Amino acid sequence: MHKLLEDKHGRKASYMRVSVTDRCNLQCTYCAGEGKEFIPHPDILRYEEILEFMGMAVDMGVEKVRFTGGEPFVRKGFADFMIAAAEQFPDVDLCVTTNATLIKDYVAPLAAAGIRRVNISLDTMNPERFEEVTKRDLFHEVRANIDRCLEAGMKVKVNAVAMRGVNDNELPAFVDFARNNPVDMRFIEFMPVGLETGWADKAVWKADDILAEAGKLASLKAVENGDKQHGPARMFEIEGGQGRIGLISPYTNHFCATCNRLRLTSDGNLRTCLFSDKVYRLRPVLRHPQLGLKQVEKIIRSASRHKPIGHDLLERMPAGQGVCRTRMASIGG
Ligand code: 5AD
Repeated sequence: MHKLLEDKHGRKASYMRVSVTDRCNLQCTYCAGEGKEFIPHPDILRYEEILEFMGMAVDMGVEKVRFTGGEPFVRKGFADFMIAAAEQFPDVDLCVTTNATLIKDYVAPLAAAGIRRVNISLDTMNPERFEEVTKRDLFHEVRANIDRCLEAGMKVKVNAVAMRGVNDNELPAFVDFARNNPVDMRFIEFMPVGLETGWADKAVWKADDILAEAGKLASLKAVENGDKQHGPARMFEIEGGQGRIGLISPYTNHFCATCNRLRLTSDGNLRTCLFSDKVYRLRPVLRHPQLGLKQVEKIIRSASRHKPIGHDLLERMPAGQGVCRTRMASIGG
């Protein structure tokens, strides 16, 4: 193993999020904004290029890789690619974030290939509201696919973006869902990432408010997070329930100090911070026969050294705007 990736604040990058496409079959405004432009196909990294890149990242100390989108399963061949990645990198903790609308036929093969965990985005427990938020009538499909993942023995985390005026009247249904199913039901504060997303300070349903309200609906017990296995989520067991609820508060209570992440976009840009538009273009270097992997490694090392503290950017954000222009849909969360 080479020297690990460490930045100027002493943070070590051990977790990489790899977006395999910026396209999605849902159209949630909070994530994609109003923009309709997609990255052209020739600019998207080929699967072999991603595997090459992963090899390098692993050599530099990355232990966990999460595939994201857009929606990863809209990209042709994604499940086979993930299975190939699992074979090639048996020691890497491989996971995927998906809206679970398209995974029905892939659950069993992925589970057989050793994929043990899946994060599923679901912002509502109400089928009509699902259609309002996503513009697609697929609530029941997602709900059935959650059960399929659980039946296949996967650990399922369900992520809801917590938005005032959208899903803040649904806490009883979310808590019941977590009580009756062995899932981690996690609320992520609505982040001002991208433009025209409908974000406003008052649209953030804050983690502490969710917790206070949830505490009236169930008896909650905080889970110790000594080994950091929950990442930035604060987790709570529900007395007498099967699942847990979790709170992720990037807006009110940032976790930049312990950030261990790097992000690779589907067009081969490295991003060191979710809240910054700064990118390091790796694709031309990856595709350049003479420069190749050594140069890519140099860029990754230099980029991670200069990783900012994202919350400083958030504090300087002009009122009511986005902290960065890039859409969440093309970063992958
Ligand atoms: N704020 C918070 N979470 C978001 N996500 C997408 N956009 C936002 C936003 N503006 C979530 C997705 C998915 C995860 C990758 O990020 O719903 O669960």
